Amino acid sequence: MEKPEYLDWLNQYTDAEACTSSQQSLPYYLRVNSLKTTAEEYLNWTNLKLEKTFLSYAFQVKELPPNGLGNTIDYATGWMHTQSLSSMLPPHLLNPKPGENVLDICAAPGSKTTQCAALMQNKGIILANDKNKGRISALANNIERLGVINTSTMNQDGARFTSPHKFQKILVDAPCSGLGSSEKAYGWWEEKYSRNISALQTAILRTAFSHLEPGGTLVYSTCTYPPDENERPVSRLLEKNPNAKLEAVEIPNSEPGIQEFGKEFKKARRVYPHKFNSEGFFLAKIRKP
Ligand SMILES: C[S@@+](CC[C@H](N)C(=O)[O-])C[C@H]1O[C@@H](n2cnc3c(N)ncnc32)[C@H](O)[C@@H]1O
Repeated sequence: MEKPEYLDWLNQYTDAEACTSSQQSLPYYLRVNSLKTTAEEYLNWTNLKLEKTFLSYAFQVKELPPNGLGNTIDYATGWMHTQSLSSMLPPHLLNPKPGENVLDICAAPGSKTTQCAALMQNKGIILANDKNKGRISALANNIERLGVINTSTMNQDGARFTSPHKFQKILVDAPCSGLGSSEKAYGWWEEKYSRNISALQTAILRTAFSHLEPGGTLVYSTCTYPPDENERPVSRLLEKNPNAKLEAVEIPNSEPGIQEFGKEFKKARRVYPHKFNSEGFFLAKIRKP
């Protein structure tokens, strides 16, 4: 899509000019890996200039090291993981606890899986699944570097995922058009793409929800803006499963979901770069009573 056309489209949802220009210079963030250190110990040790965020383990990097964050000893030792603040939101909302069993159905390369493992203090079980075999090696590398020992990887199509076990917590970080994470994605994107991928997202979400234990929680997230990829798959799930309930969540400087899909979508969250100072995201927390 050409930029003027994209700006017109995005203006339906937010201030498109502010949104796209902020996306060109978003800060870097890192997550202190509590499986290997504490925020206090890490801050005393690292040479990086960091600033606090609203998450106790997440920091904004004020000055990038000359060779990038991925080439630091901090990264190699697994004391930290580079991850956008927005990308830390889905595990933050899911809030997996030590001892729980968790399914991460679209897991690679594992930023959110390893964050879940840290929140669980390596106790309990995570099944980290991804359809793309090539991306499983990056997932395995992150699991090893970050000292995660409670996670097994799996290579299934999430839309057809089967397991004899049910899960207390499930993360569906769905494949999407990525308009919130890549400032250039609009160049190849068209609305038709979102309508098509919406069917896959819906199928993965339904399959995941069918593996949720009663009393369990599922978080659906994408890093994009089109309602076809966000509110629509969630709304289809709610229609087919009257026992699925959206739960209100708090994220600073975020906005409610689009309520054309129903009043309950004010409980979903839209995160825009110019307001949140990190990637664009959509999040919905769903409970099975
Ligand atoms: C947004 S990325 C996941 C990022 C990951 N959660 C993280 O935080 O590092 C979406 C993932 O979905 C995977 N995927 C695409 N189609 C899938 C399907 N049908 N079933 C399961 N995974 C799929 C992609 O390979 C990709 O790794």
